[in-house]
Amino acid sequence: MTLILAFESSCDETSVAVVEDGRFIRSNVIASQVKSHMRFGGVVPEVASRHHVEQISQVYQMALDQAGVEMDQIDAIAVTYGPGLVGALLVGVTAAKTLAFVYHKPLIAVNHLAGHIYANQLSQALEFPLLALIVSGGHTELVYMADDGDFQVVGETQDDAVGEAYDKVGRILDLPYPAGKYLDQLAHQGQDTYAIPRAMLQEDNLDFSFSGMKSAVMNLVHNAQQRGEKIDTANLACSFQQAAVEILVDKSMRALDRYPQVRQFILAGGVAANSALRQQLAQTLAQKHPDLALLIPDFSLCGDNAAMIGAAAYSLYQQGRFVELDLNAQPGLDL
Ligand code: KG4
Ligand code: ZN
Repeated sequence: MTLILAFESSCDETSVAVVEDGRFIRSNVIASQVKSHMRFGGVVPEVASRHHVEQISQVYQMALDQAGVEMDQIDAIAVTYGPGLVGALLVGVTAAKTLAFVYHKPLIAVNHLAGHIYANQLSQALEFPLLALIVSGGHTELVYMADDGDFQVVGETQDDAVGEAYDKVGRILDLPYPAGKYLDQLAHQGQDTYAIPRAMLQEDNLDFSFSGMKSAVMNLVHNAQQRGEKIDTANLACSFQQAAVEILVDKSMRALDRYPQVRQFILAGGVAANSALRQQLAQTLAQKHPDLALLIPDFSLCGDNAAMIGAAAYSLYQQGRFVELDLNAQPGLDL
């Protein structure tokens, strides 16, 4: 049995987990800072770093306690080293390096996006080759994995990430930050009545664009205000969500046309919690690729957490891919 102690602090959650064999969660403590950033309507990097510093020792202790393990039982220490906010990443990286030094443990550097993909391994073993759709606050990417640890980005957003678009549209509609979840709920109370452009749907590539949809919503709201008309926010939320989900599902099907050999299709990242996306992706796949396995993380594992970092780290552990104590944060790290 291999126990990995994992750290995640790339954005606004301080999280520490203990993961067994990359598959089983022994503990996964998440301290969210959402309330502190809410009044600013977005993550304030300096505030995020300070919270991580204040929280990390306690979260680490809780993760060990809840797992019922001591440091001498831990086989390796894993940490997210990018992408993310540099000041936030550095808190986790420094904590992990310090513990690796003090307790003489091997150190594993994990890409946050790989973590989102491997979150699925906490419910089902991954089978390669596979395709993953990563949808988060900072990224929207289609990734082909020929094998464990082998990432090929085959499509990505040319502007905003889909989560970012959700958050910006939510802000226009006066929803709390981060708005994705609230916009999703509001959408279910409305109907698809507003015309929102589906960008890049006609283009024969696997890339995305979401900033035009955000602008379309802004224009609809401004024009209505100028005419003294009232916007039906539930209908607007529904129309936006329908357009976003349609693009994501359509490009996923195109990716499957190009990579028909895959054994699994994986949804990953914070927006994987979106009810319409989960439902419409499952429905379309069942129709078009009934034999293909669709993996969607448990709701609790869609957002940022350290268990997914421990899951991704296990492959690197098995391959002996350890890093030195001069590891640095890489805010712009790619897959
Ligand atoms: O993966 P994540 O927790 O952080 C990043 O790595 O970015 O993703 C956060 C994003 C936010 O933009 C949030 O609004 C969005 O995920 N999100 C949702 C939903 N739940 C969270 N977006 C749409 N529908 C949801 N239900
Ligand atoms: Zn994330």
